[in-house]
Amino acid sequence: MNVFPSTFLWGGATSSAQFEGGYNLHGRGLSHLDFIDFVPKDERPDGRMTMEITQGRFENARKDDGAMNFPYRRGSEFVSHYKEDIALLAEMGFKTFRMSISWTRLFPTGKEERPNPEGIQFYHDVFAECHKYGIEPLVTMIHHEVPIALTDEYNGWESPELIDLFVKFSRTLIDEYKDEVTYWITFNEINMALCSPYMGGGSLVYRSKKDRLSLAHQIMHHQFLASAKTIAYAHDVAPQCKIGCMIARLECYPYTCKPTDVAVTVLEDQLNLNPYDVMARGAYSKRVLRYFNEAGIDIDFVDGYEDILRSSTVDFLAFSYYMTYVVSGDEDKRENPGDLIKNLRNPYIKTNDWGWGIDPEGLRITLNRIYDRYQMPIFIVENGLGAADTLESDGTVHDAYRIDYLREHIRAMREAVADGVDLMGYTTWGCIDLPSASLAEMVKRYGFVYVDADDYGNGTYDRYRKDSFYWYKKVIASNGEDLD
Ligand code: BG6
Repeated sequence: MNVFPSTFLWGGATSSAQFEGGYNLHGRGLSHLDFIDFVPKDERPDGRMTMEITQGRFENARKDDGAMNFPYRRGSEFVSHYKEDIALLAEMGFKTFRMSISWTRLFPTGKEERPNPEGIQFYHDVFAECHKYGIEPLVTMIHHEVPIALTDEYNGWESPELIDLFVKFSRTLIDEYKDEVTYWITFNEINMALCSPYMGGGSLVYRSKKDRLSLAHQIMHHQFLASAKTIAYAHDVAPQCKIGCMIARLECYPYTCKPTDVAVTVLEDQLNLNPYDVMARGAYSKRVLRYFNEAGIDIDFVDGYEDILRSSTVDFLAFSYYMTYVVSGDEDKRENPGDLIKNLRNPYIKTNDWGWGIDPEGLRITLNRIYDRYQMPIFIVENGLGAADTLESDGTVHDAYRIDYLREHIRAMREAVADGVDLMGYTTWGCIDLPSASLAEMVKRYGFVYVDADDYGNGTYDRYRKDSFYWYKKVIASNGEDLD
């Protein structure tokens, strides 16, 4: 028997910064992500993450001398391909398309009083194209992108100034698009600042008086308030809209069954779920406040924040799911609590070529855990396998590995729905190839559709259907029944 409701929203996800390109069209301003350069693998300091930006690297990028390679500026050229792209999504039978809005396409520096009409029109056109095929847009208001002017002037989300500047932007979105968009998410992965204050907040650690972890929590505090104010406004003027919040969900396993390992794992989970506590229940938990105090996390709480958070909570919970982690209470294996990247390996699961653990069972675990705790509708808004694909000479791409990955995750999701989890939908990440976030590289692909472009922007940017394209089409047509 099929367990997915007939209303289940199957689809795929993108972000404006990674997908749109057209960085200098429609009078768009530059964002902090437009200054993340591509670093080839053999030049990466730890071979892994390049999104934590150093002073030297940032200042070099800000010179913007034309010699540097900035993949975000190119994206996958959605701006000029959007009709073709949405037609491809429609061919797969997409019920929803997750995308985000570029803050700088609407407010180039973030400080303008009125939005840029050309930018406004672009998103009207995109939504109209979606509706032409019966595709429901799922819109993330901000997928990390901060106007670079606000990084320069305020060090991004470290400053409370960003709250009302963002609310001006988010109110514009609601006023302008409330009749075209029902499903909204305020912030992409609001816990991203813990991984990189630059990526998640447009904030440079070297410019802050705070230590890195305090800065990350400060950024999130301001984002929680911006989100709550947005939700209050949306609930007031657009009650038909459903507004959710989103985290990068990192289910954690204890390294052993030693009680100290388990205790650290419980704290880790409380920190990972802190954004849900704040945005769905309307308050920081006592446990998290105690942790802040004991760990010396220095947050300047905004006056009246408790009332603001309490008065407007979300309609659904969204998360991205890529991997699970292992944590240990032992001093020699211990890592920063709340840090999104951990190094301990789980010997029971495989990893992808980028070292990300592949754990479909973890998805069922996490869905059950979240639903048990919050009893709210859940939306999986990112999941997928980053892999290096090969475009064959006849235009085909044989990505059986991606089909295997998605099949197992959809099975796990199906079990969770049968367990009673209220799941609204599933949007796989990067449904059409786009540059990766962590490495700004094109070689790590997630899509059902191949985009002919490399790490340096060489290529035609033509689109090609992969084998997974035809497979996902069947999955959607059978409402998740046919996974063969
Ligand atoms: C999520 C982000 O963290 O993971 C996306 O919301 C990102 O922007 C995705 O692309 C996958 O990560 P990566 O580094 O493989 O692109």
